[in-house]
Amino acid sequence: MDQPWWQKAVLYQVYLRSFADSNGDGVGDLRGVIDKLDYLDWLGVDALWLSPVTVSPDKDWGYDVSDYRDVQPVFGSLDDVDELIVEARERGMRIVLDLVPNHTSDRHPWFRDPAKRDWYVWADKPNNWVSAFGGPAWTYDKQVGRYYLHNFAPGQPDLNWWNTEVRDEFDRILRFWFDRGIAGFRIDVANGLIKDKELRDNPPVQRGDPPVLRRFGQRPTYNRGETWVMDLERLARFYGTGTDQLHLAFNFPYTFAPLEAAALRDVVERTQAVFPPEAWPVWMLSNHDIPRFPTRTCGGDERKIRCALLALLTLRGTAVLYQGDEIGLEQVDVPLDRRRDVEVEGRDGCRTPMPWTSDGGWSDPWLPLGETTRNVEDERADPKSILNFVRDVIALRRSNADFQSGSYEPLEAPDGVWAYRRGDSTVVLNLSDEPRAYEGTTLAPWEGAIN
Ligand code: GLC
Repeated sequence: MDQPWWQKAVLYQVYLRSFADSNGDGVGDLRGVIDKLDYLDWLGVDALWLSPVTVSPDKDWGYDVSDYRDVQPVFGSLDDVDELIVEARERGMRIVLDLVPNHTSDRHPWFRDPAKRDWYVWADKPNNWVSAFGGPAWTYDKQVGRYYLHNFAPGQPDLNWWNTEVRDEFDRILRFWFDRGIAGFRIDVANGLIKDKELRDNPPVQRGDPPVLRRFGQRPTYNRGETWVMDLERLARFYGTGTDQLHLAFNFPYTFAPLEAAALRDVVERTQAVFPPEAWPVWMLSNHDIPRFPTRTCGGDERKIRCALLALLTLRGTAVLYQGDEIGLEQVDVPLDRRRDVEVEGRDGCRTPMPWTSDGGWSDPWLPLGETTRNVEDERADPKSILNFVRDVIALRRSNADFQSGSYEPLEAPDGVWAYRRGDSTVVLNLSDEPRAYEGTTLAPWEGAIN
């Protein structure tokens, strides 16, 4: 059987507000994405995953939806979505949308509709669950005289997925977008949709739990599965038996592993060991919720950035680039008075505008631009840039079936070197500060090669 497109794909995540602004209002929009399709086609990506395009009061920048069937005016219109789908298709690219089914906005008409009370999760007395953004996950609603659940901000009431009307409504929403020609969805908070029916208290954190849990003081056993699913065996279960559940589930243990041969190898090999045979891995280094990898794991070092990207694009699995990854864009230190995010720790630094030119190419953007030394125009003109390197590796991946479907086989290698075979091709990465000999050649510190 033919391998499905999304297994071979390089997906490109577009954070719409900060990608490209076609009308100069300081906010990226759908027309801006259409304008950049030639660039994305040149880069060689197969599909774009767009952050939510739907209507939202923007308490959590689109992740609080008040209408699932229309477009947020600042982004454009349904016609623009349709045009984007057609224009992308003409270049052989697909469009994937972000679906936010765990919660709506508190401004969604459903939330105020007495006939739809049971579409949300209510309690007379809150349990101990805490919100991912800090503070209790329950807020008292005067009109209803009960508490409603919000695993994120108070403006994001959780839907009750035990209710079949909710499920049926989402089936219709999916159909609405599939009929327009989109290729699929990234599901927001897929690990949180189903809550414990009895709303039991969460157990306290245990020694050895990851820091992300310690911050909350409790294990999200009854409201969220594992946060971001840091446990690979649990992750494997999201695929069901192969692909009867999720097609892809982000591998956060890989994302957060240090750029060290032993650590990365270990995650990849454990993933391979626990996944059901048909389950397909997906690798990602940055997204709109976490600090950008060139800063977080590479300390800005261009050699390290290339190594990380080379692995991302040559491992067995789907690869996801976050906008800016392809130019090695770094995390931006957004001054306190310019921050716009609801989350306590702040995610603005990974959501700043994409630098298209050496002056950014934006007028008065909603978030400040960071350093623009790494920008698309200059890197495109420089054959030795990170951007051209990424483009070359993507081209190789597309033209060589080894990289699309070949197995991953780890190879013996000296300390600090990560080497693996994909079919007839070999990838070698020297992830150390010393030159290292491998199979008759010497790799400089932080040098990668494909043979
Ligand atoms: C996911 C999204 C994040 C959002 C949250 C609530 O974690 O990636 O951006 O804030 O869900 O919808």
